[in-house]
Amino acid sequence: MECKLQEMGEAQVMAAARDSVFNRVRMGYAVIESRKTDAWRLLLGEALGMQAEIQSDQSLSARMDDHVRRLIVVPGPSEDLQALGMELADEQALAVVLKRLAKRGIDVKESTTAAAQQRGVHRFWHFTGPKGLTIELYHQPRLVGAPPRMATSGFITGDKGFGHVAMSTRRPDQMKQFWREIFDIRHTDDVHYTISGVPMLFEFMRFNPRHHSIAFVYTPKIRLDPIRTRIQHLEVQAATLDDLGAAWERCRALGLTIAMSVGQHANDKAISFYVATPSGFDIEFGWNPLEVDEASWDPAVWTRISTWGHHFEGQTLAGRLGQLGRGVASLLRKEYVPAGF
Ligand SMILES: [Fe+2]
Repeated sequence: MECKLQEMGEAQVMAAARDSVFNRVRMGYAVIESRKTDAWRLLLGEALGMQAEIQSDQSLSARMDDHVRRLIVVPGPSEDLQALGMELADEQALAVVLKRLAKRGIDVKESTTAAAQQRGVHRFWHFTGPKGLTIELYHQPRLVGAPPRMATSGFITGDKGFGHVAMSTRRPDQMKQFWREIFDIRHTDDVHYTISGVPMLFEFMRFNPRHHSIAFVYTPKIRLDPIRTRIQHLEVQAATLDDLGAAWERCRALGLTIAMSVGQHANDKAISFYVATPSGFDIEFGWNPLEVDEASWDPAVWTRISTWGHHFEGQTLAGRLGQLGRGVASLLRKEYVPAGF
């Protein structure tokens, strides 16, 4: 890539860096670090219906579409999202993002062949993003001709990516500045909502017509963060309502912990449920969120998360107190953002 950048010439590269990558970037894959590979295989494969298989390097990979894999669980102790693979539409869009990172002095390294193989891409570039989340950049996924063998009809992915993530943050201004400056995210809408007596702000951001690919959750005044993991949840989008209903039934039959019951979100109108993962954050299994029409979109402020359903399930008093304790403890913890943000 560096050679290519030199071939392009400095003037061309600078012009490219001014280009927007909006609608030329999507969430391509997620890497989770966990020691609970069998429990993850049960969740992704048997419950949610993906083609989930243990690989020769002991990672678990889940296929959802023509990409060789979308969710990857690598063995390790953190029980957290380790990396997000951001897919750029082409080499020029990748060059734009790399140039922006270089301009900010952010250290970017190229992947090893083994790591690229594990992610199901030809090669990628990586750096440490906000909250210590590794961000990986690529534009050539490895594709498979044969359809995935799944217990569900399909997932909505393609040029809008595999779904979305929601992250709590104590540094929302720096977080938003980072994603805006490097990836041209746009603000879709907001929800102002009180949970267990704590007022919360939810800001929904898009990279493309998908209503949101990333959402930031934070407290408006004293910055608390009760979430141990880097994300509160990761969403995948089912192709049909029947798929959602069947996955809901399978999760319950397998005795998995339902975090929130089936309901409909107020802002994007998605119908979904949330199931707890073995690593502590949730997976939202969603269907039919609306898309943003850039010409007519009017960002609204909502005062509720859901119009119906999405009831908390299995939330014990001890669990709530534990979250409160972690929220207070978070005041003493520093949240990483790349230098300069
Ligand atoms: Fe969500």
